[in-house]
Amino acid sequence: MEPPTPSELPIQIDSHLDGSHERSLAEDALDGLTRPFKELPPKHFYDARGAALFDRICELPEYYPTRAERTILEERAEQLARLTGAVELVELGSGTAAKTRVLLDALDAAGTLERYVPVDVTESMVRECAEELVEEYPGLSVHGVIGDFERHLDRLPPACGPRIVAFLGGTIGNFLPGSRRRFLRAIARLLGPADHLLLGTDLVKDPRVLRAAYDDSQGVTAEFNRNVLRVLNRELQADFDPDDFEHVALFDQQHEWIEMRLRARREHTARVAALDLPVHFEAGEELRTEISAKFTPERVEGDLAAAGLELALWLTDPQQYFAVSLSRPRAV
Ligand SMILES: C[S@@+](CC[C@H](N)C(=O)[O-])C[C@H]1O[C@@H](n2cnc3c(N)ncnc32)[C@H](O)[C@@H]1O
Repeated sequence: MEPPTPSELPIQIDSHLDGSHERSLAEDALDGLTRPFKELPPKHFYDARGAALFDRICELPEYYPTRAERTILEERAEQLARLTGAVELVELGSGTAAKTRVLLDALDAAGTLERYVPVDVTESMVRECAEELVEEYPGLSVHGVIGDFERHLDRLPPACGPRIVAFLGGTIGNFLPGSRRRFLRAIARLLGPADHLLLGTDLVKDPRVLRAAYDDSQGVTAEFNRNVLRVLNRELQADFDPDDFEHVALFDQQHEWIEMRLRARREHTARVAALDLPVHFEAGEELRTEISAKFTPERVEGDLAAAGLELALWLTDPQQYFAVSLSRPRAV
C-alpha cells in the first residue's frame, strides 16, 4: 500500500514561531519593562508550565468563566451546529480544547464535521490536542497552527467549507478596547458569507465575584501570574526572583476590567542579560501582566458592529455571568 500523501494524513501541524517568538518576547520585554508603568502582554504566561497552571485555574471553585461557558455550550451546541452547518472549526487560543469537544460532538452528530484548526502559541498544547482529537473523532482531520493569533491570522489554511471561528474563554478581554476592535476586524476579514464567529465574553458583575476569580484561595492564579518571570528568566536569561513579587488582582471600576499585576516586595534591580537591561523596581512598584475586560451586551454588539459583524445569537448561563455570541459578516 502507498504511504498516505501529506493531505491525506489526519494531522498536519504548521509552526510559525521558531525564533520569532523569542524575538517578540524580547521586543515586548524591552518595550514593557522600560515604561514608567511597567507592563508585559499576557501571551507570555503560556509556556508548558503556564498552560498547565491555566488548566488548574479552570478547575478552581472561584473561576466561574470556564464552567459558565461550558454550560452555555452544552445547552446550545446543537443549535449552533444547525445554524452554522459548519464543516470546520477554527479555534484561536485553543489551549487543551476541553470545551471545544462539546462543539465538535454537536458538529459530528449533525454529520458535517470534517476539520479542526487549533491555533495557539503553546506548541505542546497544539500537538497534544491534535493527537487526542483524531483518536476521539474518527474521520476528523486536524490542521494545527502553532503561532501568535495577533501576527499569524494570514497563515490559516483556506476554508474547506462553512466554518466557525471560535474565540472562547474570554480571551478577547485581554485586548485593550482599540486593539480589541482591530483584532475583531482582522477576524472578520477571515469570514466568508457562510462563516460565523463564536465569541466567549465574560460579563460585568459583582466585583467581589470578579476579584475572587483572579485571586483564588489556593494561590494558583498567583503562581500563574509569577510564571511570566520564569519565562523571562529562561528565555532571556533574566534573574527575577518570583518570590520578590506579590500577586495583585484588582477590578478597575471605570474601565470595567480586571488587572493582574506583580508588586515588588522590596526595592531591587533585576537584570535581563539577553537584552543587557537592568530593570529597577521601587518597593511596592507594580508590573501589569494582564487586563481582562468585562462586557455588557451593548459593548459586545458595538465591538462586533465596528468589525462589520452582526449578532445572530446571544447566549448566557442562568447566572448571566458569561456570554457566548454567534455573529456573521453583515450583509452589504
Ligand atoms: C485564557 S486561555 C483560554 C484557553 C481556552 N480557549 C479556554 O477557553 O479555556 C488563552 C489561550 O490562548 C493562548 N494564547 C494567548 N495569547 C495568544 C496569542 N497571542 N496567540 C496565540 N495563542 C495565544 C494561550 O496559550 C491559551 O491557550
